[in-house]
Amino acid sequence: MPQTIAVLDFGSQYTQVIARRIRECQVYSKIYHFSTPAETLRKEGVIGIVLSGGPSSVFSSKAPIPDRKIFELGVPVLGICYGIQLMGHLLGGKVARGERREYGKGTLEIRKSGRLFKGLPKKLQVWNSHGDKLMKLPPGFAAIGKTENSPYAVIEDLKRNFYGIQFHPEVFHTERGIDVLKNFLAGVCGAAQDWTTKDFIAHAVDEIRRTVGKSRVILGLSGGVDSSVAAALIHTAIGRQLTCVFVDNGLLRKGERETVESLYKRNFKIDLRVVDASALFLKLLKGVDEPERKRKIIGKAFVDVFEKSLRKIGHADYLAQGTLYPDIIESVAIGDNPAALIKSHHNVGGLPARMRLKLLEPLKELFKDEVRRVGLALGLPREVVWRQPFPGPGLGVRVVGAITAEYLEVLRNADFILQEEMMKSGWYWKVWQSFCVFLPVKSVGVVGDERNYAHVIAIRTVESTDAMTADWTRLPYDLLQKISSRITNEVTGVSRVVYDVSSKPPATIEWE
Ligand code: XMP
Repeated sequence: MPQTIAVLDFGSQYTQVIARRIRECQVYSKIYHFSTPAETLRKEGVIGIVLSGGPSSVFSSKAPIPDRKIFELGVPVLGICYGIQLMGHLLGGKVARGERREYGKGTLEIRKSGRLFKGLPKKLQVWNSHGDKLMKLPPGFAAIGKTENSPYAVIEDLKRNFYGIQFHPEVFHTERGIDVLKNFLAGVCGAAQDWTTKDFIAHAVDEIRRTVGKSRVILGLSGGVDSSVAAALIHTAIGRQLTCVFVDNGLLRKGERETVESLYKRNFKIDLRVVDASALFLKLLKGVDEPERKRKIIGKAFVDVFEKSLRKIGHADYLAQGTLYPDIIESVAIGDNPAALIKSHHNVGGLPARMRLKLLEPLKELFKDEVRRVGLALGLPREVVWRQPFPGPGLGVRVVGAITAEYLEVLRNADFILQEEMMKSGWYWKVWQSFCVFLPVKSVGVVGDERNYAHVIAIRTVESTDAMTADWTRLPYDLLQKISSRITNEVTGVSRVVYDVSSKPPATIEWE
């Protein structure tokens, strides 16, 4: 068992971020429900406990209260936000109901560095988000730092190794927050800080084996980063007990199906079933020009095809998905947290419940960059791990208006050239997305002495960090020139290439 830090979850939106920061410090952390018995933590040999924040007030009748015996385990405890109030409340201090919430940036003044602030400046910008606050220290504690509104923003009991901080060290807005955590992990808990991606993989492989036993697992492979890494990881754990299904919906890019087949079938020796449903999708989409209808048709057809292929494959117990942490909006409803939402948006249209499949989501605690690291360590190529996002409805939302096989072919050929040039110039890796859009308008051009009446291709390349906002990329003119002349020369049916210079907002990244 690796040296484990237990993060007790009191419902904060930041609980997973705490776990992630601990992993960044190369220490293994595991999130536990707040009510986990101290005995369980003892048996699992945890070397430190972090009490997460949470939206509750300790005065609420529904306030989540942990097993008080966690304070008798003899391991260090760090309470964050709601965690510090809990410590005050349970260990004999006094907490006052806040008249107003302290939210946002504040300045922390450290009176004495103690162990948590060793090597850190005496003044730091920190991020607050709390209502109640600690008014009287519990016996044994000393106050070592304050903010404008909290006289006891940092407290410690060096004898018992209990620490509390009112602000959030895990968020980026808190200066040197990661160093505070490091001080707790290494300085207080004695963590070795040697947990690596390889350890994550070994641990995940172990857990998948234990969960799955001899059962069969099915995974819908899209070729995107998340499902690819999930497939490689699960395959490492259970080999041929895993079957992957790849649906060719006829809306893929040039060579995509072949690339997926060669990588997973030939390289990884994964049991991969490719289902060619392109004719069905095209038939269903015939004459449909409204984007949301297209999406609905594509989504429903995918579920139908996938379900049918599962029946053909035979009995399976698990449906594996490459769900990442950011895909899950609220994990659990705890205390006063009204959002009992469990959102697993990768869920294929209620399929697991309908087919009585259990879910296997080995990446669900990770963030995207962590998943990429796991992918690389498993031997996936850079092209897969750093692939640009590609929408589920694929080229279906990149042919503006009604889709035809001919339009798709033109778009595929143009897009192939764009990707080739983006890769060659290195720009592919610098932008968020780069793709072509087929415009169903005809424009006049000249080829030799002849007038040519053909379609228009728009190039869209954007920079972004989360797709919520985006700016168009200032690609060098020479590169644009090369892409444009290659497309008009090499792709039949295109007379004109235009460059999209709209930002999001007001435009969206995709055209539909
Ligand atoms: P927009 O066009 O809304 O896109 O600015 C934001 C991000 O989402 C992707 N996108 C989709 N992904 N199904 C998906 O899986 C969709 O229907 C869809 N529409 C847009 C888009 O490529 C961009 O990364």
